[in-house]
Amino acid sequence: MAKLEIRDLHVNVTPKDSDAEPIVILKGVDLTVESGQTHAIMGPNGSGKSTLSYAIAGHPKYQVTQGTITLDGEDVLAMTVDERARAGLFLAMQYPVEVPGVSMSNFLRTAATAVRGEAPKLRHWVKEVKESLSELEIDPSFVERSVNEGFSGGEKKRHEILQLGMLKPKIAILDETDSGLDVDALRVVSQGVNSYRERENGGVLLITHYTRILRYIKPEFVHVFVNGRVVESGGPELADELEENGYVKFTSAAAGA
Ligand SMILES: Nc1ncnc2c1ncn2[C@@H]1O[C@H](COP(=O)(O)OP(=O)(O)OP(=O)(O)O)[C@@H](O)[C@H]1O
Ligand SMILES: [Mg+2]
Repeated sequence: MAKLEIRDLHVNVTPKDSDAEPIVILKGVDLTVESGQTHAIMGPNGSGKSTLSYAIAGHPKYQVTQGTITLDGEDVLAMTVDERARAGLFLAMQYPVEVPGVSMSNFLRTAATAVRGEAPKLRHWVKEVKESLSELEIDPSFVERSVNEGFSGGEKKRHEILQLGMLKPKIAILDETDSGLDVDALRVVSQGVNSYRERENGGVLLITHYTRILRYIKPEFVHVFVNGRVVESGGPELADELEENGYVKFTSAAAGA
Protein backbone atom coordinates (compact mmCIF):
# COMPACT_ATOMS: atom_id res chain seq x y z
CA MET A 1 0.00 0.00 0.00
CA ALA A 2 1.28 3.45 -0.92
CA LYS A 3 0.01 6.79 0.24
CA LEU A 4 0.70 10.20 -1.31
CA GLU A 5 -0.19 12.96 1.11
CA ILE A 6 -0.30 16.62 0.17
CA ARG A 7 -0.84 19.07 3.01
CA ASP A 8 -1.37 22.82 2.84
CA LEU A 9 0.72 23.06 -0.33
CA HIS A 10 1.60 26.57 -1.47
CA VAL A 11 3.50 27.03 -4.72
CA ASN A 12 4.92 30.10 -6.48
CA VAL A 13 6.24 30.57 -9.94
CA THR A 14 8.74 33.31 -10.73
CA PRO A 15 8.25 34.81 -14.18
CA LYS A 16 11.28 34.93 -16.48
CA ASP A 17 11.76 38.66 -15.95
CA SER A 18 14.00 38.62 -12.88
CA ASP A 19 12.50 41.85 -11.48
CA ALA A 20 9.02 40.38 -11.48
CA GLU A 21 7.39 39.32 -8.24
CA PRO A 22 6.69 35.61 -7.81
CA ILE A 23 3.12 34.64 -8.66
CA VAL A 24 1.27 32.60 -6.05
CA ILE A 25 -0.47 29.72 -7.82
CA LEU A 26 -1.24 27.04 -5.25
CA LYS A 27 -2.80 28.34 -2.07
CA GLY A 28 -3.11 25.46 0.34
CA VAL A 29 -3.79 22.17 -1.44
CA ASP A 30 -4.84 19.20 0.72
CA LEU A 31 -5.15 15.83 -1.00
CA THR A 32 -4.44 12.19 -0.21
CA VAL A 33 -4.16 9.45 -2.85
CA GLU A 34 -3.69 5.82 -1.86
CA SER A 35 -2.95 2.63 -3.79
CA GLY A 36 -5.99 1.32 -5.58
CA GLN A 37 -7.81 4.65 -5.46
CA THR A 38 -8.70 6.87 -8.38
CA HIS A 39 -9.16 10.58 -7.79
CA ALA A 40 -10.35 12.95 -10.48
CA ILE A 41 -9.48 16.64 -10.31
CA MET A 42 -11.65 19.00 -12.30
CA GLY A 43 -11.36 22.77 -12.39
CA PRO A 44 -11.32 25.82 -14.62
CA ASN A 45 -8.42 26.73 -16.91
CA GLY A 46 -5.61 28.40 -15.04
CA SER A 47 -6.73 27.21 -11.60
CA GLY A 48 -3.37 25.48 -10.96
CA LYS A 49 -4.00 21.80 -11.75
CA SER A 50 -0.89 21.37 -13.90
CA THR A 51 1.10 23.37 -11.37
CA LEU A 52 0.07 20.84 -8.75
CA SER A 53 1.25 17.97 -10.94
CA TYR A 54 4.58 19.72 -11.67
CA ALA A 55 5.11 20.46 -7.98
CA ILE A 56 4.61 16.78 -7.15
CA ALA A 57 7.00 15.72 -9.93
CA GLY A 58 9.59 18.32 -8.90
CA HIS A 59 9.68 20.78 -11.81
CA PRO A 60 12.34 23.34 -10.86
CA LYS A 61 10.27 26.32 -12.03
CA TYR A 62 7.74 25.86 -9.26
CA GLN A 63 8.81 26.78 -5.73
CA VAL A 64 7.07 25.25 -2.77
CA THR A 65 6.78 27.98 -0.17
CA GLN A 66 4.68 26.18 2.41
CA GLY A 67 3.21 22.76 3.13
CA THR A 68 4.34 19.17 2.62
CA ILE A 69 4.21 16.30 0.15
CA THR A 70 5.00 12.82 1.46
CA LEU A 71 4.96 9.36 -0.08
CA ASP A 72 4.56 6.68 2.59
CA GLY A 73 5.77 9.23 5.11
CA GLU A 74 8.94 10.07 3.12
CA ASP A 75 9.52 13.73 2.31
CA VAL A 76 8.99 14.03 -1.45
CA LEU A 77 10.03 17.68 -1.49
CA ALA A 78 13.53 16.69 -0.33
CA MET A 79 13.89 14.32 -3.32
CA THR A 80 15.32 15.14 -6.75
CA VAL A 81 13.12 14.55 -9.79
CA ASP A 82 14.61 11.13 -10.49
CA GLU A 83 14.44 10.11 -6.84
CA ARG A 84 10.73 10.89 -6.99
CA ALA A 85 10.37 8.63 -10.02
CA ARG A 86 12.31 5.87 -8.29
CA ALA A 87 10.16 6.30 -5.19
CA GLY A 88 7.15 5.44 -7.36
CA LEU A 89 5.71 8.70 -8.64
CA PHE A 90 4.83 9.15 -12.29
CA LEU A 91 3.58 12.16 -14.21
CA ALA A 92 1.97 12.05 -17.63
CA MET A 93 2.28 15.67 -18.67
CA GLN A 94 -0.45 17.75 -20.28
CA TYR A 95 2.05 18.71 -22.98
CA PRO A 96 4.59 15.88 -23.32
CA VAL A 97 8.02 17.15 -24.36
CA GLU A 98 9.84 16.14 -27.53
CA VAL A 99 13.34 14.71 -27.11
CA PRO A 100 14.98 14.77 -30.54
CA GLY A 101 17.82 12.26 -30.97
CA VAL A 102 16.63 9.88 -28.24
CA SER A 103 14.69 6.91 -29.53
CA MET A 104 11.58 5.72 -27.71
CA SER A 105 13.15 2.31 -27.23
CA ASN A 106 16.30 3.77 -25.65
CA PHE A 107 14.30 6.11 -23.53
CA LEU A 108 11.97 3.38 -22.24
CA ARG A 109 14.78 1.00 -21.41
CA THR A 110 16.85 3.70 -19.68
CA ALA A 111 13.83 4.85 -17.68
CA ALA A 112 12.85 1.30 -16.72
CA THR A 113 16.44 0.53 -15.68
CA ALA A 114 16.59 3.65 -13.52
CA VAL A 115 13.24 3.06 -11.87
CA ARG A 116 13.65 -0.69 -11.34
CA GLY A 117 17.24 -0.42 -10.15
CA GLU A 118 18.52 -2.95 -12.72
CA ALA A 119 18.42 -3.36 -16.45
CA PRO A 120 15.50 -5.56 -17.53
CA LYS A 121 16.68 -8.84 -19.11
CA LEU A 122 16.73 -8.26 -22.86
CA ARG A 123 14.48 -11.17 -23.84
CA HIS A 124 11.84 -10.29 -21.28
CA TRP A 125 12.14 -6.67 -22.18
CA VAL A 126 11.50 -7.17 -25.89
CA LYS A 127 8.41 -9.21 -25.05
CA GLU A 128 7.23 -6.65 -22.52
CA VAL A 129 7.58 -3.78 -25.00
CA LYS A 130 5.80 -5.77 -27.69
CA GLU A 131 2.87 -6.59 -25.42
CA SER A 132 2.56 -3.02 -24.19
CA LEU A 133 2.62 -1.67 -27.74
CA SER A 134 -0.06 -4.06 -28.84
CA GLU A 135 -2.25 -3.31 -25.79
CA LEU A 136 -2.16 0.37 -26.67
CA GLU A 137 -2.47 -0.31 -30.39
CA ILE A 138 0.78 1.52 -31.14
CA ASP A 139 2.61 0.62 -34.33
CA PRO A 140 5.98 -1.01 -33.43
CA SER A 141 7.79 1.39 -35.78
CA PHE A 142 7.27 4.13 -33.18
CA VAL A 143 9.91 2.72 -30.85
CA GLU A 144 12.63 3.68 -33.33
CA ARG A 145 11.43 7.27 -33.55
CA SER A 146 12.70 10.07 -31.32
CA VAL A 147 10.68 10.56 -28.15
CA ASN A 148 7.49 12.42 -29.07
CA GLU A 149 9.16 14.13 -32.04
CA GLY A 150 6.55 14.83 -34.65
CA PHE A 151 4.02 12.67 -32.80
CA SER A 152 0.43 13.82 -33.12
CA GLY A 153 -1.26 15.01 -29.92
CA GLY A 154 -3.08 11.70 -29.49
CA GLU A 155 0.07 9.66 -30.24
CA LYS A 156 1.92 11.53 -27.48
CA LYS A 157 -0.85 10.72 -25.01
CA ARG A 158 -0.77 7.03 -25.94
CA HIS A 159 2.97 6.96 -25.34
CA GLU A 160 2.54 8.51 -21.91
CA ILE A 161 0.34 5.56 -21.01
CA LEU A 162 2.83 3.16 -22.57
CA GLN A 163 5.40 4.54 -20.11
CA LEU A 164 2.90 4.24 -17.27
CA GLY A 165 2.45 0.55 -18.01
CA MET A 166 6.17 -0.13 -18.26
CA LEU A 167 7.37 1.96 -15.30
CA LYS A 168 4.69 0.63 -12.94
CA PRO A 169 4.64 3.53 -10.49
CA LYS A 170 2.88 3.44 -7.13
CA ILE A 171 1.01 6.65 -7.83
CA ALA A 172 0.32 8.05 -11.31
CA ILE A 173 -0.65 11.63 -12.05
CA LEU A 174 -2.32 11.95 -15.42
CA ASP A 175 -2.68 15.55 -16.54
CA GLU A 176 -5.35 15.76 -19.22
CA THR A 177 -4.37 12.47 -20.76
CA ASP A 178 -7.78 12.46 -22.47
CA SER A 179 -7.30 15.80 -24.26
CA GLY A 180 -7.22 15.51 -28.00
CA LEU A 181 -8.00 11.80 -28.16
CA ASP A 182 -10.40 10.43 -30.73
CA VAL A 183 -13.11 8.08 -29.44
CA ASP A 184 -11.14 4.92 -30.20
CA ALA A 185 -7.95 6.28 -28.66
CA LEU A 186 -9.87 7.34 -25.56
CA ARG A 187 -11.04 3.76 -25.10
CA VAL A 188 -7.57 2.28 -25.68
CA VAL A 189 -5.84 4.76 -23.39
CA SER A 190 -8.47 4.24 -20.68
CA GLN A 191 -7.98 0.49 -20.91
CA GLY A 192 -4.25 1.06 -20.48
CA VAL A 193 -4.87 3.06 -17.32
CA ASN A 194 -7.33 0.51 -16.00
CA SER A 195 -4.99 -2.40 -16.56
CA TYR A 196 -2.23 -0.47 -14.78
CA ARG A 197 -4.62 0.02 -11.85
CA GLU A 198 -5.51 -3.64 -11.73
CA ARG A 199 -2.01 -5.05 -12.21
CA GLU A 200 -0.17 -2.72 -9.87
CA ASN A 201 -3.00 -1.72 -7.55
CA GLY A 202 -1.84 1.77 -8.50
CA GLY A 203 -3.21 5.02 -7.20
CA VAL A 204 -4.35 7.45 -9.89
CA LEU A 205 -4.76 11.21 -9.84
CA LEU A 206 -6.59 12.08 -13.02
CA ILE A 207 -6.81 15.71 -14.07
CA THR A 208 -9.50 16.24 -16.66
CA HIS A 209 -12.03 18.68 -18.08
CA TYR A 210 -14.42 16.06 -19.37
CA THR A 211 -16.69 13.49 -17.77
CA ARG A 212 -16.45 11.25 -20.84
CA ILE A 213 -13.14 9.71 -19.68
CA LEU A 214 -14.74 9.07 -16.28
CA ARG A 215 -17.14 6.66 -17.96
CA TYR A 216 -14.13 4.46 -18.74
CA ILE A 217 -11.89 5.20 -15.77
CA LYS A 218 -14.19 5.30 -12.78
CA PRO A 219 -13.04 7.56 -9.96
CA GLU A 220 -14.13 6.95 -6.37
CA PHE A 221 -13.33 10.57 -5.53
CA VAL A 222 -13.88 13.78 -7.47
CA HIS A 223 -12.32 17.08 -6.40
CA VAL A 224 -13.17 20.56 -7.58
CA PHE A 225 -10.05 22.68 -7.98
CA VAL A 226 -10.51 26.45 -8.03
CA ASN A 227 -8.02 29.27 -7.57
CA GLY A 228 -5.15 27.10 -6.34
CA ARG A 229 -7.07 24.89 -3.92
CA VAL A 230 -9.37 21.92 -3.63
CA VAL A 231 -12.66 23.61 -2.76
CA GLU A 232 -14.97 20.61 -2.76
CA SER A 233 -14.62 16.83 -2.73
CA GLY A 234 -17.21 14.18 -3.32
CA GLY A 235 -18.00 11.01 -5.22
CA PRO A 236 -18.52 10.48 -8.95
CA GLU A 237 -21.84 12.35 -8.82
CA LEU A 238 -19.88 15.57 -8.30
CA ALA A 239 -18.47 15.23 -11.84
CA ASP A 240 -22.00 15.02 -13.25
CA GLU A 241 -23.01 18.07 -11.30
CA LEU A 242 -20.04 20.00 -12.74
CA GLU A 243 -20.91 18.89 -16.25
CA GLU A 244 -24.44 20.16 -15.70
CA ASN A 245 -23.79 23.41 -13.87
CA GLY A 246 -20.16 24.37 -14.52
CA TYR A 247 -17.91 25.91 -11.90
CA VAL A 248 -19.87 29.11 -11.22
CA LYS A 249 -21.01 28.05 -7.78
CA PHE A 250 -17.43 27.28 -6.77
CA THR A 251 -15.69 30.20 -8.48
CA SER A 252 -18.08 32.77 -7.01
CA ALA A 253 -17.67 31.22 -3.55
CA ALA A 254 -13.87 31.36 -3.99
CA ALA A 255 -14.04 34.99 -5.13
CA GLY A 256 -16.11 35.91 -2.10
CA ALA A 257 -13.76 34.15 0.28
N1 LIG B 1 5.96 29.77 -15.73
C1 LIG B 1 4.88 30.52 -15.51
N2 LIG B 1 4.93 31.87 -15.61
C2 LIG B 1 3.84 32.63 -15.38
N3 LIG B 1 2.64 32.12 -15.03
C3 LIG B 1 2.54 30.80 -14.91
C4 LIG B 1 3.63 29.92 -15.14
N4 LIG B 1 3.22 28.65 -14.93
C5 LIG B 1 1.92 28.75 -14.59
N5 LIG B 1 1.52 30.03 -14.59
C6 LIG B 1 0.16 30.53 -14.32
O1 LIG B 1 -0.39 29.77 -13.26
C7 LIG B 1 -1.77 29.58 -13.45
C8 LIG B 1 -2.08 28.09 -13.31
O2 LIG B 1 -1.59 27.39 -14.45
P1 LIG B 1 -1.82 25.82 -14.63
O3 LIG B 1 -1.17 25.43 -15.89
O4 LIG B 1 -1.42 25.14 -13.39
O5 LIG B 1 -3.42 25.77 -14.77
P2 LIG B 1 -4.37 24.54 -15.11
O6 LIG B 1 -5.38 24.47 -14.02
O7 LIG B 1 -3.57 23.33 -15.39
O8 LIG B 1 -5.11 25.05 -16.44
P3 LIG B 1 -5.62 24.22 -17.75
O9 LIG B 1 -6.94 23.63 -17.36
O10 LIG B 1 -5.79 25.28 -18.78
O11 LIG B 1 -4.59 23.20 -18.10
C9 LIG B 1 -2.10 30.16 -14.81
O12 LIG B 1 -2.68 31.42 -14.64
C10 LIG B 1 -0.76 30.25 -15.49
O13 LIG B 1 -0.71 31.31 -16.43
MG1 LIG C 1 -3.25 22.18 -17.01
